[in-house]
Amino acid sequence: MKFKLTRQEISQELNSLAAKIINRKKIRVPKATRNKLAGVAAIGKKIQKTGLPKYLVRKKLKGKLGYGIFLRANAKPIMKGEVIAPYSGQVMLVPQNNDGDSDYIFSLISDLRLTKKEQKAFDPKSRYHPRRLYSIDLDAEKKGNFTRFINHSEKPNVEAHLLRIPANSLGLKPSAFEIIYIANKTIRPGEQLLVCYEGEDKSYWGAQKIKPFPMTPQTFQLDSKGRFLLR
Ligand SMILES: C[S@@+](CC[C@H](N)C(=O)[O-])C[C@H]1O[C@@H](n2cnc3c(N)ncnc32)[C@H](O)[C@@H]1O
Repeated sequence: MKFKLTRQEISQELNSLAAKIINRKKIRVPKATRNKLAGVAAIGKKIQKTGLPKYLVRKKLKGKLGYGIFLRANAKPIMKGEVIAPYSGQVMLVPQNNDGDSDYIFSLISDLRLTKKEQKAFDPKSRYHPRRLYSIDLDAEKKGNFTRFINHSEKPNVEAHLLRIPANSLGLKPSAFEIIYIANKTIRPGEQLLVCYEGEDKSYWGAQKIKPFPMTPQTFQLDSKGRFLLR
């Protein structure tokens, strides 16, 4: 698989600004536990090597659903709380509601107001306006890893957590925030990995102007030969 970005890509300046904003807006970003850090480090090595870890498989689904990610039928279950992987991509600060039309954007922090100095540094082409709103987005359109192929469900088995990566001895670069996909229930062999794309703002499907296909992890299940089970 060509998508092999283990962690999000973010400039030092934007990471520092994000840390300040998290503080300013009192956003709760829990510190990743030692166990979660070990999970991030372990999956990072697998992504670097093969892109897709060998217990997972990418499969084409019907129609416009595109690809999806499945746990192979002969793999061990993934237990609740296990790290799936960081949702990686390019982190950018953009004027709000100007997100472009990528299907792979995660809005990390929205409704940001910047000081004059910050606007000059991060949006030098626009004239300063104290009420202009910005958001910090993560886009996996051009760069990312297998998590960019994880589809949406209202009954997901994977949850997106916004965590801080503290200084550590595992070789992971610290970051003010990072989206980490974590299993929120046991994922059984053959099931599809699914996450809910929408937060409280319900912005994803509204912007797409389509209704999501109602999938559960068992809707398209794989047999031991990697074929879909007929129901
Ligand atoms: C992050 S991508 C997921 C991977 C995508 N299936 C692919 O092949 O690249 C998000 C896009 O997948 C499709 N998708 C994901 N879940 C869906 C669902 N439940 N119903 C309809 N389309 C879905 C939509 O086109 C959506 O914009």
